[in-house]
Amino acid sequence: MLTQQILQILVDQPVENIIDVYGWVKTRRDSGSISFFEVNDGSCQENLQVITDQSLVNFDTEIKKVSTGSSVHVRGKLVSSPAKGQDVELQAMEMELIGWADPEVYPLQKKRHSFEFLRTIPHLRPRTNALGAVARIRSCLNFAIHRFFKERGFFQVHTPIITTSDCEGAGEMFTVTSLSLDQVVGETGYEHDFFGRRAGLTVSGQLQAEIYAQTLGRVYTFGPTFRAENSHTSRHLAEFWMLEPEMSFCDLQCDMDVAEELIRDLVSIVMKECPQEIELFNRFIDKGLKQRLQKTAEEPFARLTYSAAIDSLKSAEKTFEFPVSWGMDLQSEHERYLCEEILQRPVILYDYPEKIKPFYMRMNDDGTTVAAMDVLVPCIGELVGGSQREERYEKLAERMDDAGLNRNDYDWYLDLRRFGSVPHSGFGLGFDRLIQFVTGMQNIREVIPFPRTPGSAPC
Ligand code: 4AD
Ligand code: MG
Repeated sequence: MLTQQILQILVDQPVENIIDVYGWVKTRRDSGSISFFEVNDGSCQENLQVITDQSLVNFDTEIKKVSTGSSVHVRGKLVSSPAKGQDVELQAMEMELIGWADPEVYPLQKKRHSFEFLRTIPHLRPRTNALGAVARIRSCLNFAIHRFFKERGFFQVHTPIITTSDCEGAGEMFTVTSLSLDQVVGETGYEHDFFGRRAGLTVSGQLQAEIYAQTLGRVYTFGPTFRAENSHTSRHLAEFWMLEPEMSFCDLQCDMDVAEELIRDLVSIVMKECPQEIELFNRFIDKGLKQRLQKTAEEPFARLTYSAAIDSLKSAEKTFEFPVSWGMDLQSEHERYLCEEILQRPVILYDYPEKIKPFYMRMNDDGTTVAAMDVLVPCIGELVGGSQREERYEKLAERMDDAGLNRNDYDWYLDLRRFGSVPHSGFGLGFDRLIQFVTGMQNIREVIPFPRTPGSAPC
């Protein structure tokens, strides 16, 4: 039986029961002729206390050897615990050592290890309380995302991982080739490559999601995304997970509404479904976490234009590393100052200068800004980036020319504006950044099981 189920049942009605548990030993403590074990099978944050004594036939020969990290099977009687710290405990009738972990060399001992050290052992780090909790929260939110969209009539579309379109136009695509390096001599070499042209790993599924939004109405894609961006920050990964809804007959206002509703819904769910994990992070990682999450779930986000944000940053009594001026791309220090200091809550900025945004965003009537929006949250900065898309053929074609894109490469994208074009919008939510936000973890490398960053892909 899973400890998650055991602990659930017995909180309400402690009964004596014979139960089998399989799991890993978190700690052991010896007191006289009794040994106490904290056993965890991964199903929940809480451990199950197991009590063993001399009455077990293998107590001296085997159980005395059982150490942190060992895997065990215990059959025992579940009883209300007389001691503080747990409601129930398991009085072992049998304990079998399945796999021993030699304490002389097992790297995870009872003391707290730094996250930097844990990154050096990616195969063992999920066994720590914090990283195990992150993994459960990721899974919970992954499921909650699908439920959110299903309940609102969206369809999931599997957009390609290998693509020939650089959606963001930032030149950050990893190339996918079956040729050897010396065969790829410049762009012409790709004619002989696997796909007959240069292909890469997707930087966003948006353009393909737009195709399906124009037939299924409301769709989303959710999968791994890749960027060969040489960023060594605590918010960037070379491989990250992005959720991208795309909605027909939806303008920028509607786009912002869906993004806000989604984030607030996901935050409420994680507080409701993972209370032990959130408690752990609030206690050991970030003391303001619970309060911040509560506020995010309950209060509307602030909304203001990019221009208003620039004005407000300019009049702030703060010296930024990057001086503020209209037309600049906001840096994390500006984004965080806006939502942490000035507005003290998540904020949606919209109507950005067209020069700093990709070609597909819809031009506003002022001719200088586009219908873009970013959701910024405390401690992280940008969590979501989205926009209303340019649905007018001529305007889109002009923006593509300005961006130096070849119309022929995007003829299918332009075609969508020739045949039954509709106003539509969407956004991308960085799933790993969302996990950072709900756990308070400082570094994005701790919230994804296997972080890939410049110079690092250990397993
Ligand atoms: O703002 P971005 O680049 O937007 C797009 O890719 C759009 N095509 C999305 C769309 O409209 N469908 O990325 C969206 C989000 C960012 O706000 C950020 O949260 C996350 O993806 N993100 C990253 N997360 C981790 N590591 C990186 N290198 C990231 N780059 C973007
Ligand atoms: Mg962005």
